[in-house]
Amino acid sequence: MHPDTEVDVAGLVLRSPLMVASGVLGSSPSLIRIIATNPDVGAVVTKTVTYRPRTGYENPTLVDLGYGFLNAMGLPNPGYSEYRFELGSIKKSLEIPLIVSIGPSDEGEAEEMVEELDSVADGFEVNLSCPHVENLGMEVGSDASKASGIVKAVRGSTGKPVLVKISPNVTDFVANARSAVEAGADAITAINTVRGMAIDVNAMRPVLSNVYGGLSGKAIHPVAVRIVFELYEKIKAPIVGCGGVYDWRDAVELILAGATAVQIGSAIAHSQTGLKVFNEIGEGVRRYLALKGFSSVKQIIGLAHS
Ligand SMILES: Cc1cc2nc3c(=O)[nH]c(=O)nc-3n(C[C@H](O)[C@H](O)[C@H](O)COP(=O)(O)O)c2cc1C
Repeated sequence: MHPDTEVDVAGLVLRSPLMVASGVLGSSPSLIRIIATNPDVGAVVTKTVTYRPRTGYENPTLVDLGYGFLNAMGLPNPGYSEYRFELGSIKKSLEIPLIVSIGPSDEGEAEEMVEELDSVADGFEVNLSCPHVENLGMEVGSDASKASGIVKAVRGSTGKPVLVKISPNVTDFVANARSAVEAGADAITAINTVRGMAIDVNAMRPVLSNVYGGLSGKAIHPVAVRIVFELYEKIKAPIVGCGGVYDWRDAVELILAGATAVQIGSAIAHSQTGLKVFNEIGEGVRRYLALKGFSSVKQIIGLAHS
């Protein structure tokens, strides 16, 4: 038996529930083109682009802790206009949905960015959750009226699916997700990184040039499972789970908690096999479904609640 792995995230039909998470692979279009040929990749989310180009922070920007990464890259990207041009060069060759991640700082920026990027995007993920950049990401997401204004502006500028990526660093993430849905989001991505820091005990200084960063990887998986589980009970929109998915069990856990699809980031960098991690996880999910007697991945979404 070959279980059906197709899922539908707010109108985006994915051949596999596994998506590439924003940022971990950088913003290179040629890399996106390679990843998209993997049959176990259902969609790619791009690196977050901002209104203006950003060079990012000085090194060190990334620490490998073994159980996860701590990063404060500072959202390096070429700016939305240049990135639209770069994505335009590969868009036609992609057989899977391309979700463009955007980090606007206000409604005006959101409108302009989405209107221009609409020609290369199959959907948008609004990053209201990056924990280490001033006036963007989590700082914007924590301001309820600003966040809602941005989501409304995105909604008003595109007919394509809009995902909003939320932060685990606030106690009222349910309220944030609800207000995003009320403002027009079609789905919620949970979660972005968990704010943290590391200190070099020899140098007696913070390791990251930005001092604070975001923790990703294995360490945050239980946080992601808990947040997806809670959101599933409290909001009426599809959820895309993200955080510490390293093997098929992690992916299945998030789906059982209520995720329609699952994003993978740090595991790509930590895995010995690189992008093959998608095939290993995909194969594991299919085997699990077959073993449990399910014909489709859709049948297990949220099953941990029953
Ligand atoms: C190096 C690095 C860069 C990232 N850049 C972005 C980004 O540009 N936009 C975003 O929304 N999330 C970004 N993230 C967060 C991931 O998309 C994801 O939410 C987080 O890493 C948790 O998933 P993981 O444990 O599978 O990595 C980044 C994460 C890492 C490790």
